[in-house]
Amino acid sequence: MTDRYAVIGHPIAHSKSPLIHAQFARETGQDLAYDAVDVEPEMLPFALRQLHDEGYRGLNVTLPHKTEVAQLCVGVSERAQQAGAVNTLLRVDGGWQGDNTDGDGFWRDLTRLGIGVAGRRVLIVGAGGAVRGILGPLLAARPALLVVSNRNPWKPEALAEQFKEVGSVVPRTHLALKGDRYDLIVNATSAGLSGAMPRLPGQLLADGGACYDLSYGAAFAPFRDWATAQKAAIVADGLGMLVEQAASAFEIWRGVRPPTAGVLQALRAA
Ligand code: ATR
Repeated sequence: MTDRYAVIGHPIAHSKSPLIHAQFARETGQDLAYDAVDVEPEMLPFALRQLHDEGYRGLNVTLPHKTEVAQLCVGVSERAQQAGAVNTLLRVDGGWQGDNTDGDGFWRDLTRLGIGVAGRRVLIVGAGGAVRGILGPLLAARPALLVVSNRNPWKPEALAEQFKEVGSVVPRTHLALKGDRYDLIVNATSAGLSGAMPRLPGQLLADGGACYDLSYGAAFAPFRDWATAQKAAIVADGLGMLVEQAASAFEIWRGVRPPTAGVLQALRAA
């Protein structure tokens, strides 16, 4: 019997996960099947039980289920609790064990790109759900300063409060960044989805600094153009993070870390 895996979300047709995991399976010589399953929000509890009954060994979870699914797991890892979201499910007796590989994927992609964080000044632009997943690995790397800025000031303040036991997160509005210099600027807003770029003060990026966007594809364009105008030494989108978080899920399921370079190359070519 071939082991079965799937990604669940709504909508799901656009998901790159089936392609990514099929290539991981080929490159590691693993025999597995990977499906995309459309699950409407109200059907989530039923779908999780059904997929378990059908013998699925692991699931990836994408929008809009990443928060809700945590309540339906028999257990949730510490990093998923910290992120407030679950993106990977492992089949266990009686249900699903929840984990979150987004932060790990982000961290591995920074490492792949040679972007250092230790002792550096880091700015995260945006304070939505995605930021909770990356704060843990960033703080663990001991930056000199970690600032989260947002239009709406109470969101970074809430994040700073949530993470105060883990490390120092400095909350700011975008306007209050004026005069600051950062070695790494991470765009975590969804502004790019509507072709926009948050309004930031000029000259925020230090010489030789790097810019990283959690999004990719068309949504990356406004931040890419901004970062290029700031003369960033490295301008990266989040496609590498997507592949690395998938590789971390694959590793949880199969016990082997797949190579990621070929998959990333295939996605860029597509
Ligand atoms: P995600 O889960 O992807 O992080 P989210 O929780 O909806 O998505 O958060 C979206 C983030 O993008 C927020 O930080 C939001 O800023 P506000 O909290 O001030 O709304 C930010 N954002 C979205 N559109 C934006 C725009 N046009 N300009 C600046 N920030 C924007």
